[in-house]
Amino acid sequence: MISSMDNIKKYKKLKAGLNKALAAEMGAFWAFGGHTDKEDDKQLKQIIMQVRLDELNHIDTLIFLLKKHGVRRNRLREAAFELIGRTVSFACKFFPNHRINSVASYMEKLGAANYRELAGYARELNLPYVEQQMVWMWQQESTHQYFFDKMTELYNAK
Ligand SMILES: [Fe+2]
Ligand SMILES: [Fe+2]
Repeated sequence: MISSMDNIKKYKKLKAGLNKALAAEMGAFWAFGGHTDKEDDKQLKQIIMQVRLDELNHIDTLIFLLKKHGVRRNRLREAAFELIGRTVSFACKFFPNHRINSVASYMEKLGAANYRELAGYARELNLPYVEQQMVWMWQQESTHQYFFDKMTELYNAK
Protein backbone atom coordinates (compact mmCIF):
# COMPACT_ATOMS: atom_id res chain seq x y z
CA MET A 1 0.00 0.00 0.00
CA ILE A 2 1.22 3.45 -0.93
CA SER A 3 0.21 5.13 2.32
CA SER A 4 2.03 2.64 4.55
CA MET A 5 5.11 2.82 2.34
CA ASP A 6 4.86 6.55 2.75
CA ASN A 7 4.69 6.17 6.51
CA ILE A 8 7.74 3.90 6.61
CA LYS A 9 9.66 6.59 4.71
CA LYS A 10 8.43 9.33 7.05
CA TYR A 11 9.30 7.29 10.12
CA LYS A 12 12.80 6.72 8.73
CA LYS A 13 13.17 10.45 8.06
CA LEU A 14 11.93 11.28 11.55
CA LYS A 15 14.41 8.90 13.22
CA ALA A 16 17.31 10.11 11.07
CA GLY A 17 16.30 13.71 11.81
CA LEU A 18 16.26 13.10 15.56
CA ASN A 19 19.72 11.53 15.35
CA LYS A 20 21.18 14.45 13.38
CA ALA A 21 19.50 16.94 15.72
CA LEU A 22 21.24 15.30 18.68
CA ALA A 23 24.69 15.84 17.14
CA ALA A 24 23.79 19.45 16.24
CA GLU A 25 22.56 20.14 19.80
CA MET A 26 25.85 18.80 21.17
CA GLY A 27 27.74 21.17 18.88
CA ALA A 28 25.53 24.06 20.05
CA PHE A 29 26.06 23.16 23.70
CA TRP A 30 29.86 23.38 23.33
CA ALA A 31 29.75 26.49 21.15
CA PHE A 32 27.66 28.37 23.73
CA GLY A 33 30.42 27.82 26.29
CA GLY A 34 32.68 30.27 24.45
CA HIS A 35 29.76 32.55 23.70
CA THR A 36 28.94 32.74 27.43
CA ASP A 37 32.57 33.52 28.31
CA LYS A 38 32.74 36.22 25.66
CA GLU A 39 29.75 38.17 26.98
CA ASP A 40 30.72 40.70 29.67
CA ASP A 41 27.25 42.02 30.49
CA LYS A 42 25.94 40.02 33.47
CA GLN A 43 22.31 39.91 32.35
CA LEU A 44 23.13 38.95 28.78
CA LYS A 45 25.53 36.31 30.08
CA GLN A 46 22.65 34.87 32.16
CA ILE A 47 20.47 34.64 29.07
CA ILE A 48 23.14 32.81 27.04
CA MET A 49 23.71 30.44 29.98
CA GLN A 50 19.97 29.72 30.06
CA VAL A 51 19.97 29.06 26.32
CA ARG A 52 22.87 26.67 26.85
CA LEU A 53 20.88 24.85 29.55
CA ASP A 54 17.92 24.61 27.16
CA GLU A 55 20.20 22.90 24.62
CA LEU A 56 21.30 20.45 27.33
CA ASN A 57 17.63 19.71 27.94
CA HIS A 58 17.13 19.14 24.21
CA ILE A 59 20.05 16.69 24.25
CA ASP A 60 18.35 14.76 27.07
CA THR A 61 15.01 14.74 25.26
CA LEU A 62 16.56 13.53 22.00
CA ILE A 63 18.55 10.76 23.70
CA PHE A 64 15.33 9.61 25.38
CA LEU A 65 13.35 9.63 22.11
CA LEU A 66 16.09 7.81 20.19
CA LYS A 67 16.17 5.09 22.85
CA LYS A 68 12.38 4.85 22.88
CA HIS A 69 12.30 4.35 19.10
CA GLY A 70 15.24 1.95 18.98
CA VAL A 71 17.58 4.24 17.04
CA ARG A 72 21.30 3.67 17.34
CA ARG A 73 23.17 6.89 18.06
CA ASN A 74 25.87 7.98 15.62
CA ARG A 75 28.79 8.49 18.02
CA LEU A 76 31.19 9.46 15.26
CA ARG A 77 28.90 12.28 14.08
CA GLU A 78 28.39 13.34 17.70
CA ALA A 79 32.16 13.52 18.20
CA ALA A 80 32.55 15.53 14.97
CA PHE A 81 29.96 18.06 16.15
CA GLU A 82 31.54 18.27 19.58
CA LEU A 83 34.81 19.14 17.87
CA ILE A 84 33.07 21.77 15.71
CA GLY A 85 31.33 23.18 18.78
CA ARG A 86 34.57 23.37 20.77
CA THR A 87 36.29 25.06 17.82
CA VAL A 88 33.50 27.64 17.53
CA SER A 89 33.65 28.12 21.30
CA PHE A 90 37.35 28.95 21.07
CA ALA A 91 36.86 31.12 17.96
CA CYS A 92 34.41 33.34 19.90
CA LYS A 93 37.51 34.97 21.46
CA PHE A 94 38.44 36.46 18.08
CA PHE A 95 35.09 37.60 16.70
CA PRO A 96 33.08 40.72 17.52
CA ASN A 97 29.90 40.29 19.59
CA HIS A 98 27.51 41.35 16.82
CA ARG A 99 28.95 38.67 14.52
CA ILE A 100 28.79 35.91 17.15
CA ASN A 101 25.17 36.77 17.95
CA SER A 102 24.10 36.92 14.31
CA VAL A 103 25.66 33.50 13.64
CA ALA A 104 23.92 32.13 16.77
CA SER A 105 20.61 33.58 15.54
CA TYR A 106 21.06 31.88 12.17
CA MET A 107 21.84 28.51 13.77
CA GLU A 108 18.77 28.82 16.00
CA LYS A 109 16.67 29.59 12.94
CA LEU A 110 17.89 26.38 11.26
CA GLY A 111 17.17 24.43 14.45
CA ALA A 112 13.65 25.84 14.71
CA ALA A 113 12.93 24.96 11.06
CA ASN A 114 14.25 21.44 11.58
CA TYR A 115 12.06 20.78 14.65
CA ARG A 116 9.10 22.24 12.81
CA GLU A 117 9.63 19.75 9.99
CA LEU A 118 10.08 16.84 12.43
CA ALA A 119 6.91 17.90 14.30
CA GLY A 120 5.09 17.62 10.96
CA TYR A 121 6.34 14.04 10.40
CA ALA A 122 5.42 13.08 13.96
CA ARG A 123 1.96 14.53 13.49
CA GLU A 124 1.40 12.65 10.20
CA LEU A 125 2.63 9.45 11.85
CA ASN A 126 0.24 9.97 14.77
CA LEU A 127 3.01 10.13 17.37
CA PRO A 128 1.57 12.85 19.65
CA TYR A 129 4.28 12.59 22.31
CA VAL A 130 7.08 13.06 19.78
CA GLU A 131 5.10 15.84 18.12
CA GLN A 132 4.70 17.64 21.45
CA GLN A 133 8.43 17.45 22.16
CA MET A 134 9.28 18.72 18.65
CA VAL A 135 6.85 21.64 18.95
CA TRP A 136 8.28 22.49 22.37
CA MET A 137 11.86 22.53 21.04
CA TRP A 138 10.81 24.43 17.91
CA GLN A 139 9.29 27.06 20.18
CA GLN A 140 12.42 27.26 22.35
CA GLU A 141 14.77 27.61 19.35
CA SER A 142 12.55 30.41 18.05
CA THR A 143 12.82 32.15 21.41
CA HIS A 144 16.62 31.70 21.33
CA GLN A 145 16.67 33.19 17.83
CA TYR A 146 14.73 36.19 19.11
CA PHE A 147 17.25 36.78 21.94
CA PHE A 148 20.20 36.60 19.56
CA ASP A 149 18.50 38.93 17.07
CA LYS A 150 18.02 41.45 19.89
CA MET A 151 21.64 41.08 21.00
CA THR A 152 22.84 41.52 17.40
CA GLU A 153 20.82 44.75 17.16
CA LEU A 154 22.20 45.91 20.49
CA TYR A 155 25.83 45.38 19.43
CA ASN A 156 25.25 46.82 15.97
CA ALA A 157 23.94 50.00 17.61
CA LYS A 158 27.05 50.37 19.78
FE1 LIG B 1 18.31 23.15 21.05
FE1 LIG C 1 18.65 26.87 20.78
